[in-house]
Amino acid sequence: MRTKTAAILAGLLVAPNAATAAPDPARLFTEHCAACHGGDRLGAIGPALLPQNLGRLKPGEAVNVILSGRVATQMPAFGDKLTEEDAKALAGWIFAPPERMPDWGVAEIDASRVIHGARLPAAPVHDSRPLNLFCVVETGDHHVTVLDGDRMEPIARFQSRFALHGGIKYSPDGRFAYMASRDGWVSVYDLWGLEMVVETRAGINTRNIAVSKDGKLIAVGNAVPAGVVILNARDLSPVQIIPTDSRVSAVYTAPPRHSFVVALKDTPEVWELPYDTLPLAVRRVPLEAHLDDFFFDQGYRMLMGASRDGRGQVVDLDAGRKVADLALQGMPHLGSGITFDWQGRRLMASPNLKEARITVIDTATWEVVRQIDTLGPGFFLRGHAASPYVWADVFMGPNKDAIHVIDKRGLEIVKTLRPAPGRTAAHVEFTDDGRFALVSVMENDGALIIYDAQTLEEVKRLPMRRPVGKYNVANKIRYEEGTSH
Ligand code: HEC
Repeated sequence: MRTKTAAILAGLLVAPNAATAAPDPARLFTEHCAACHGGDRLGAIGPALLPQNLGRLKPGEAVNVILSGRVATQMPAFGDKLTEEDAKALAGWIFAPPERMPDWGVAEIDASRVIHGARLPAAPVHDSRPLNLFCVVETGDHHVTVLDGDRMEPIARFQSRFALHGGIKYSPDGRFAYMASRDGWVSVYDLWGLEMVVETRAGINTRNIAVSKDGKLIAVGNAVPAGVVILNARDLSPVQIIPTDSRVSAVYTAPPRHSFVVALKDTPEVWELPYDTLPLAVRRVPLEAHLDDFFFDQGYRMLMGASRDGRGQVVDLDAGRKVADLALQGMPHLGSGITFDWQGRRLMASPNLKEARITVIDTATWEVVRQIDTLGPGFFLRGHAASPYVWADVFMGPNKDAIHVIDKRGLEIVKTLRPAPGRTAAHVEFTDDGRFALVSVMENDGALIIYDAQTLEEVKRLPMRRPVGKYNVANKIRYEEGTSH
């Protein structure tokens, strides 16, 4: 009662100025938002509202979300409670860093752990072939669909954490799927029992995860707090925190080297974390430029990286120095590069985020073998050892509905598909045997379209909610040459 009276009194005291005084976003937040987004803005039922986490959301869109809510989610509309000015002040405030970033260390990670009590059966509870399953990440409504890749039918669909990154990883035997969300949640899902096993929040803003070759450790690359968190893959208990003096842009697994390799956003260095002995030691490799998107050769000795101004370099990880420059232009997306054989040579092909081209490089000489002109900048490339074609999306511009099919022998586009005219088509993945290719229509009422990878004819269409990525278990755990890792 007393607090209620106090609140009314406080309201009366500020009331006379309310029309003229600028809105106080911190107060509005505590009153209207903190229950769902956390008093410290770290998130609760709703996502974290911190500048780095909001990344792609524009402040103007945030104002709309606040006033109108989000249909079919728990985000309510505040149009009847808040003025447009209030909403603008709140949007400005959530895009500004907090006075003090909350701590996120071993204690917080451990306390966040949720053990779901999964049954962990001795054999799969379904009759699908476990190695030809796909996990499809649907960010439209934050779900993951488990798809049988032989019958092309979903066998399970479950809720994920908010804003899962693509890039689901698997345990070496293919049984467990590991996922990471924008807000730092790492989840382990059992593909035999079709149940969530354990989850933990490993950071405040996470880039991605990598799994060690023996399947025992998971490395989580964090932008906030900057560093790599090593977790026990079985139960997600924290093993070690390795702070970095720069935001991590990605962490990779290098199986033949028994190490994790860390790309850093703000420091011209790459870090290698060998994991055969614990605690992991850090090996720093200085670079001539910032490289934050990597591609490795099949032996994981050579790392190809592109700097923000588009210059490419080849770094010999053993020697710890640059050994070649790459003649790249625009902004190559080396992280989605793939390799394949061509006339006795090992080639690497990479899409370009800024220019309408795919660059093909000889990995022995580091020379550009071919520039393949496309209908626009692309994001993903996929091939498969058993398929004569490489599939490339056009991610931006008026042709974002196009998918190019490139013949590996002639290094030229032989067909351009438009799976759903006018709608973004992207991210191709093959079945384990390379016979079928799955394409996403990346929209809220989108779809997964399955093509015969030989005849290039459509076979089936499954409705999905913004399916941003799909990951075939066998292709991932065998490090299939046509898939990025
Ligand atoms: C009842 C719970 C609840 C309340 C109260 C609430 N939100 Fe939300 N909010 C959510 C949920 C859940 C989402 C995620 C919606 C989705 O799935 O896209 C969300 C999403 C958002 C987003 C979009 C984030 C993104 O990355 O896309 C913004 C911005 C936001 N809320 C701001 C606010 C503000 C500001 C307030 C207070 C005025 C507020 N919310 C109050 C639950 C809530």
